[in-house]
Amino acid sequence: MKTVLFVASEGLPFIKSGGLADVVGSLPKALYACNYEVRVVIPLYRKTAEKDHGKLTYIGTRQIHSGWINQPANYYQCDVDGIIYYFVEHQGYFEREQLYGYADDGERFAYFQKAVLELLYHIDWYPDIIHTHDWHTGMIPLMTHALYGSDWRFEKIKHVYTIHNLAFQGNFPESVLTTCLGLDRYFYDNGSVKFDSGISFMKAGLVYADKITTVSPTYSHEILTSEFGERMDEVLRYRHDDLWGIVNGINVDEWNPKTDKLLAKNYNVKNWKAGKKANKKALQEELGLEVRDDVMLIGLVSRLTNQKGVYLITEKMNEIMSLNVQFCILGTGEENAENAFKWLEANYKGKAVYYCGYNEELAHRIYAASDLFLMPSIYEPCGIGQLIAMHYGALPLVRETGGLKDTVHPYNQYTGEGNGFSFWSKNPNDMMYTIRWASEQYYYNQDGWKQLVNNAMNTDVSWQQSANLYGELYKMLVGE
Ligand code: ADP
Ligand code: GLC
Repeated sequence: MKTVLFVASEGLPFIKSGGLADVVGSLPKALYACNYEVRVVIPLYRKTAEKDHGKLTYIGTRQIHSGWINQPANYYQCDVDGIIYYFVEHQGYFEREQLYGYADDGERFAYFQKAVLELLYHIDWYPDIIHTHDWHTGMIPLMTHALYGSDWRFEKIKHVYTIHNLAFQGNFPESVLTTCLGLDRYFYDNGSVKFDSGISFMKAGLVYADKITTVSPTYSHEILTSEFGERMDEVLRYRHDDLWGIVNGINVDEWNPKTDKLLAKNYNVKNWKAGKKANKKALQEELGLEVRDDVMLIGLVSRLTNQKGVYLITEKMNEIMSLNVQFCILGTGEENAENAFKWLEANYKGKAVYYCGYNEELAHRIYAASDLFLMPSIYEPCGIGQLIAMHYGALPLVRETGGLKDTVHPYNQYTGEGNGFSFWSKNPNDMMYTIRWASEQYYYNQDGWKQLVNNAMNTDVSWQQSANLYGELYKMLVGE
């Protein structure tokens, strides 16, 4: 069995701030079914230390030298359903309130990446492939090559780098290269990690990985353009032949309305009507919405940032509320968006509710109770929210971009095809038009709506197909 090490900044079931954690928590299991042994390594954050410390086994300490950094790393291990997770513990670097967004992020993740490579010596395990994810781990292919290249155990390792969001690039001052990563200035001078007048962890991943993937075919095309390329499009065009777009799946064992213990009532594709009715009533009672089963409930579970199209929504809030709908929002993010949704709740008591925060359990109940799930992203590498929504029979209403375009097929009232609704332009009027049209289908075309929900719940959102594609990619690098 070929072996793969996943390296990421977050991963379920331990720590999550977004879809990356969903992927890192579910793809390894699916790859195992394709005959790959996958292990995962992530930092040990404060939340994990508080919640899961009892489950982790201490496996040793190693001194990490990286540029001027000279700090110990404590390693921990935990097995989850046959997948081994490793943790890098350093209280100063990782046991903080947030996961990222600190002035010393360059130093923190330089240390993490070096500690990951040293972990391999510590456990005396050298995978066939190191699969890194997003900027936090982008330097690993270069570090392996430059710092461990003379060791045959590292030399044979192949590198896959997955872009989950090109907008977050890990750009730091040039000095980080030598002082924190312990790499020669040569890599700045030759342009391979240089970005503006500093360095970019993301760019290093794009230049040095053997293969690059991103999380949907459409996004893999979009990022070759200057509109979506976040100024990396030139490098990406240069690596075009090694770039694959593989759409995400979800863990359908955990996200399963038939068995989900957090729901008021479980349901499946045959009895979803009764299931939604009971879950809607429970959510209305829980959140103080008017209790009625004859109203279309719109759900939104998201980071509240421009990426997610929240300003298209805030622009049209009054118009949305003029329809016969209820609106339930869960999320945190930019202050402007949070304030707008607080205003919405205050002005439409009983009809709109905003839960400002991160709440995994409430998210399950919102997916189950909603009829329509709003996700009008400006750009979306893949999106996990719309996949969960479909699986729970909440029809996604999305903008046609990235993974949303690849996974949500708009309703065709003549053929009955589709599993949601979509619009193309970044114009709030077009979004509003589509919401209005969706609500008309809900109230006046109940057979059509029923067909759509059936189609959505029958859409394959599991990892199976995509895990096979990752398997194909791995095979190209290391054989069977
Ligand atoms: P991104 O990773 O860009 O934030 P995705 O759609 O890929 O977007 O993944 C978001 C994930 O985070 C989904 O699983 C969604 O349910 C979850 N999520 C987002 N915001 C919240 C929140 N406030 N509370 C609970 N879960 C959330
Ligand atoms: C990023 C993207 C999102 C994607 C997730 C997991 O957070 O914004 O679209 O689904 O990563 O790949």
